[in-house]
Amino acid sequence: MTQDELKQATAQAAADYVARHLPQGGILGVGTGSTANCFIAALAPLKDRLGGAVASSEATRQRLQQLGIPVISLNDVLKLAIYVDGADEIDASLAMIKGGGGALTREKIVAAAADTFVCIADASKQVATLGRFPLPIEIIPMATRQVSRRLLEMGGDPKLREGFVTDNGNVIIDVHGLTISDPIALEAELNQIVGVVTNGLFAARGADVLLLATGDGVQRITRT
Ligand code: A5P
Repeated sequence: MTQDELKQATAQAAADYVARHLPQGGILGVGTGSTANCFIAALAPLKDRLGGAVASSEATRQRLQQLGIPVISLNDVLKLAIYVDGADEIDASLAMIKGGGGALTREKIVAAAADTFVCIADASKQVATLGRFPLPIEIIPMATRQVSRRLLEMGGDPKLREGFVTDNGNVIIDVHGLTISDPIALEAELNQIVGVVTNGLFAARGADVLLLATGDGVQRITRT
């Protein structure tokens, strides 16, 4: 199977999960990226039973609206039953690196409002230790140099994502060369650096369910 077919397989499994678990008229949180785009397409047959969706980026908002799914502000929703999103890497504890597409801050906000985070990923995203994928960090632009210096001191190799501005008007630094042995501790430490908006470690609030597409089918892995 190609990687694209694997993405479509996990996306379809997530749409089936939503059909089974989201109450009629429920509001769904929707992530960002190429796998999330497959998921949005797979939502088409379900659109009449959704009350609407909260989007984790402008790109996702546009795709949902093109499909005729009402997009609702998170401020108008108390809680989401389910959030579905992809990952750049995911480990056995279902901690993730996210933000390859630069939407990490809104993704983390929407994920925090959800009872269940369903991660959709193909087998290439599964790793023993997080960190081979450069860790994205969203920064207030004026703090870029200061934050980069601190990241160097921490043993990382920070690179500004050239020409990229987030939906929130900020910049992204991708940190190479980190071996992340304690994702929860590093997530908290990075959040303490002044000028950091969000880091791409989703560990304190990882996924609850992983729908992992492999050549042998989609495996469902639940956080223990
Ligand atoms: C977007 O900012 C990211 O967090 C994506 O969810 C993540 O990078 C996975 O993207 P793909 O499905 O395109 O690999």
